[in-house]
Amino acid sequence: MKLLFCASEAYPYVKSGGLADVAHALPIALQKSGKVSVTRIIPLYRFAKKPATMVSFLHEEIVFAGARFKVIYYRTYEEGIETIFVESHILSDVDRLYGLDNDALRFTLFSRAIVGYARKERFDIIHLNDWHTALAALFVKEFALPSKIVFTIHNLAFQGVFDASWISVLGISPHYFHMDLLEFYGKINFMKAAIAFSDALTTVSPTYVKEIQTPEYGCGLDGFLRKYAYKLQGIRNGIDTETFNPSADETLSCRYRGDLAGFKTCSKAALLRVKTDLPLFIFIGRLTEQKGIDLILKLSKEIARLPMLLAMIGEGEERFVKACEAIDAKAANISFYRGYDEALAHRMYAAADFLLMPSRFEPCGLNQMIAMRYGAVPVVHKTGGLADTVHREAVCGQGILFETFTPEALLAALQEALQYYHDRERFQKTEYFNFHCDFSFAKPAEEYFMLYEELTGEEKINKIR
Ligand code: GLC
Repeated sequence: MKLLFCASEAYPYVKSGGLADVAHALPIALQKSGKVSVTRIIPLYRFAKKPATMVSFLHEEIVFAGARFKVIYYRTYEEGIETIFVESHILSDVDRLYGLDNDALRFTLFSRAIVGYARKERFDIIHLNDWHTALAALFVKEFALPSKIVFTIHNLAFQGVFDASWISVLGISPHYFHMDLLEFYGKINFMKAAIAFSDALTTVSPTYVKEIQTPEYGCGLDGFLRKYAYKLQGIRNGIDTETFNPSADETLSCRYRGDLAGFKTCSKAALLRVKTDLPLFIFIGRLTEQKGIDLILKLSKEIARLPMLLAMIGEGEERFVKACEAIDAKAANISFYRGYDEALAHRMYAAADFLLMPSRFEPCGLNQMIAMRYGAVPVVHKTGGLADTVHREAVCGQGILFETFTPEALLAALQEALQYYHDRERFQKTEYFNFHCDFSFAKPAEEYFMLYEELTGEEKINKIR
């Protein structure tokens, strides 16, 4: 089975969020299963980390809406899979991934480039991810390609919504501009194209599947998603257990050598440079409302008085950065590092007793799984993928959940965590238990494969008929 896996970012080349981690690890896991031959396709941004070798193999001119775009395709083989990079001036010569005035045009071009390549080389499945690749679903249908389309929603909060005036610029037929297709409150919505035209829709956890069909989490698309609920399913993400491997992680000063308690003590002392009996909580993530940083900030006075340490790392909205810097200056037990430092984040996971993840909503979330792999216990808001991966009971993985998204509920969860921490035997058992859970992509990849097979199997049956 031949698969074209399409995304706007993939680690290690370019990463702004969890999508890049999934676009890294899932194709590798699929290829490793031996059942799928995977080609990954991503844009080549000027600032991306380039592979050791890559070869240009195709020069194209993509024409739409009367404009011509020169596109170069490059190919590389790394970590056992083929990756194709798409380079074109408007897509590539930029200083950031998203948030440019011509994003609508940039990602329409990328979607055209995906389909242009898929027309040359037949794929059984074209797997699209998030709004940046969503229009490819429409182009696949327009060119009547036989490939089946899977579309994965990693975050419904970003749908690719643009002014209706873009329609003619992008060369999209006005025929699609109605509420059952691309129209969205008078604007054009890229994600709607993929929801309508894909053969299967997935999102990154089973709970998020239910949530996005409600007005509270549906971001205006809950009705539209309910209409297509028959083709929607949840497959939770995994993590790359090689990058996140406490036994072999080169960023760590202490590595796991069969003694978890020793590993944790050594890592904590290395990070904090002092010995302490206080539990260390960490927060790693974008400083946005989604991640619930506002909830932590609202509790900063209480946290300052609790017998705990809090270390935070992240970058994001300026108002949150300022507020984090302010509490770092005020409270002796809170520290904040602005920016994103992958190595420091690894050392924090290894040192932490608890990971704080009070996300307002969370399609899947990867940090809670990474934390457990490094022996830290997650304290999370019971939503989306957090509700699917963190449990009160002793099933993989175990942690503390709070149900209502309020500072009071988070405070109660922190107090519960403190008690938990001092019940040493129980706490260490949980750490140990989580540490040995399988959060790899092996099982999720198997579920994707089953879905692909279902779709291509239908095709075969139709042919026989
Ligand atoms: C987005 C979501 C996150 C998910 C990731 C990968 O970043 O916010 O919850 O884990 O995509 O699917």
